[in-house]
Amino acid sequence: MISIAVFGYGTVGSGVVEVIEKNREVIDKRAGEEIRVKYILDLRDFPGDPYADRVVHDVNVILQDPEVSIICETMGGNEPAFTYSMQALKAGKSVCTSNKELVANHGAELIRTARENRCNYLFEASVGGGIPIIRPLNVALTAEKIELISGILNGTTNYILTHMAEDGSSFEESLKEAQEKGYAERNPEADVEGYDACRKIAILASLMTGKTVCYEEIHTEGITKITHEDFLYAEKMNLFIKLLARIREQDGKYYAIVAPFLIGEKNPLHSVNDVFNAIFIRGNTLGDSMYYGRGAGKLPTASAVVSDVIDCAKHGHTHIVCLWEEEKLPLSSIDGFSRRFFVRAAEGSEEAARELFGEIERIDAGAAGEFGFVTPAISEKEFAEKCAALPGFISRIRLEEA
Ligand code: HSE
Repeated sequence: MISIAVFGYGTVGSGVVEVIEKNREVIDKRAGEEIRVKYILDLRDFPGDPYADRVVHDVNVILQDPEVSIICETMGGNEPAFTYSMQALKAGKSVCTSNKELVANHGAELIRTARENRCNYLFEASVGGGIPIIRPLNVALTAEKIELISGILNGTTNYILTHMAEDGSSFEESLKEAQEKGYAERNPEADVEGYDACRKIAILASLMTGKTVCYEEIHTEGITKITHEDFLYAEKMNLFIKLLARIREQDGKYYAIVAPFLIGEKNPLHSVNDVFNAIFIRGNTLGDSMYYGRGAGKLPTASAVVSDVIDCAKHGHTHIVCLWEEEKLPLSSIDGFSRRFFVRAAEGSEEAARELFGEIERIDAGAAGEFGFVTPAISEKEFAEKCAALPGFISRIRLEEA
């Protein structure tokens, strides 16, 4: 029998207990041993809960119990999750987490500590919720030189953009609807400003490169400036607006960005709607592959945590190699990256636009007093300079490069 402890009995933590209960038979079979929840660590008590008797408030009870070999850290945030995870790993207990903030901040250090103590730090649930993406990167795609990861990594913003496109509703209306349905947080800043997707792509980029990609260095824009008019133009061009989180290798340089993009039907991410997430990966010999599913939610995320528990159970005190070093990966500034841009400008500035950008493609979508155009491929830096000189500039959205 393997005794585990769950740190944090919130949405994901209670989901972990539920998944273990619901799928007990297959889980035990696949783990090779019975998995039982011995403790739940939480500040609160849960009278009436079937697991109420397993709730403890002192982490040391768990850390000092030699019977406990695996921890599910579903507390979220940096502290005390970091301290508790380090203490557990140093005591030789494996940690399985859904905590993207902690993984993005301290992933390499936690993995090294696990290696030094012959246990594991696994984080399948930290990106893409229930979508298997960490294990594919660590196991199935290890023969590949990965050139591009492009993902829809945030369910809240994908829901909002889907509804703005489908109902013609505004950002504010769609956000309100997402909050009413429980998809968006009361304080939606981390989602709508792209910070959540940024942390997730930093984790994937670190696994792609084997070095630490600092999320603070990733150029990040959210969706708050996207308007109803943008969707009118997108429809006219037969393109789709998606918040993409991307890391791309080009000529030995790495470029990372989180921003709204206009993508075409050829990109399989165009049909990923509502709260679904997907991750598109291009390898140099595999070519393109995509991973799709529920990127959030209690049971999908908990299922990914439990899959890590089973992996730990199967490996005992063997460390599962995960190449993610503490050395920082220098990201190249996106200033040097070339792509096409869609621009909206006030009526009357077409000639100036042609003078600045050369061959532009004009688009009219019925928005009063303005027009849209697509530039030829141009570096981000040059584009910004030219936009500053364009009279009547309204807004811009990047087009995905070929
Ligand atoms: N707020 C996140 C989302 C939850 O909307 O995708 C999952 O990390």
